[in-house]
Amino acid sequence: MALVNEHYLKLPGSYLFSDIAKKVNTFKVTHPKQDVIRLGIGDVTQPLPDAVIKAMHKAVDEMAIKETFRGYGPEQGYSFLIDAIIKNDFANRGIYLDPSEVFINDGAKSDTGNIGDILRHDNSVGVTDPIYPVYIDSNVMAGRAGVLEDGKWSNIVYIPCLSENDFVPQLPDRRIDILYLCYPNNPTGTTLSKTELKKWVNYALENDTLILFDAAYEAYIQDPDVPHSIYEIKGAKKVAIEFRSFSKTAGFTGVRCGYTIVPKELNATTLTGERIPLNKLWNRHQCTKFNGTSYITQRAAEAVYSPEGKEQVKEIINYYMTNAKIMKQGIEATGLKVFGGDNAPYLWVKTPNGMPSWKFFEQLLYEANVVGTPGVGFGPSGEGYLRLTAFGAREDCVEAMRRLKNWIK
Ligand code: MLT
Repeated sequence: MALVNEHYLKLPGSYLFSDIAKKVNTFKVTHPKQDVIRLGIGDVTQPLPDAVIKAMHKAVDEMAIKETFRGYGPEQGYSFLIDAIIKNDFANRGIYLDPSEVFINDGAKSDTGNIGDILRHDNSVGVTDPIYPVYIDSNVMAGRAGVLEDGKWSNIVYIPCLSENDFVPQLPDRRIDILYLCYPNNPTGTTLSKTELKKWVNYALENDTLILFDAAYEAYIQDPDVPHSIYEIKGAKKVAIEFRSFSKTAGFTGVRCGYTIVPKELNATTLTGERIPLNKLWNRHQCTKFNGTSYITQRAAEAVYSPEGKEQVKEIINYYMTNAKIMKQGIEATGLKVFGGDNAPYLWVKTPNGMPSWKFFEQLLYEANVVGTPGVGFGPSGEGYLRLTAFGAREDCVEAMRRLKNWIK
């Protein structure tokens, strides 16, 4: 008889967004006439930029001709995309990467979930709290998280980010082996300045900590003092892996493409203290478990960096950030407290009178027909908050604010 990985049995019944989808579907079945506005999962609503569509069509045509047909591509990604990434996302910020440090994938979720495969099961793990649930769930699956007690995993160090500390995580008073940082932050929509991020890089350098830095929302940064990449901080290549995604930047949530940077100078050690380059291990992982992102998708991603692509992407980002502004003003007008939304497409709303997150979620769904994500689903420090995304269509965001205002009255 095969034995199961029992760590999976410790996980809550379903993934946060599946749970919400189920609750919304139940509501729809029982209230078929109600028009529900979904501002829960951070899924984009605007179509792909024209430059991307054209590049995909061209790539499809190439696949139809013997001379230009492509079979398996390099597991790490095609050089045309890797070169465009290095030039446009890093070199123009003074960061120099070798092509072998860039790994193209099918979206940041896969790599943030799988990166733990190259790390021992008994590393200590730290997360800012609240946090994107994939980081925690994947560590539970690997047996790294311990047991769930009062909403917290016993082997995870939670670093609270609350309105009381302006959502700026404080350095822990103990060392941590692996630390997850996501900035601009999902779910709070808040950011770290260069000075704040530098403290974390210095902490990692002093403590030999590996930082897993998720920058999936960097394209939404408006403020010049907010770093787009952790490698803008001196020394970060020695301590950090960075994850990027085309999902939120260019509307690829359904197309699937992202990339991971594993610098060559980044090491972790064996139990006996031998230092091992993680780039080599991740390359080995990808060659074994991944056969590359499709050629058509990589050509689509390359088009994001063309002059037309850049213009079109900018327009889409402006569209969502205008939604965020409208929503922030709308929520503030109700008297509710709201954070984020200035450098990220997420709004982090304090529930009225300390109402629990799930209760606020249910009331908003049943009484105003607006779907958010309960903050506590992102971790214990999310209790008493609800996340709304600015990725909706403009008219839905405006209507959701109108409903919220009427409902609060
Ligand atoms: C979110 O809503 O947090 C994201 O859309 C989830 C994801 O990117 O997987």
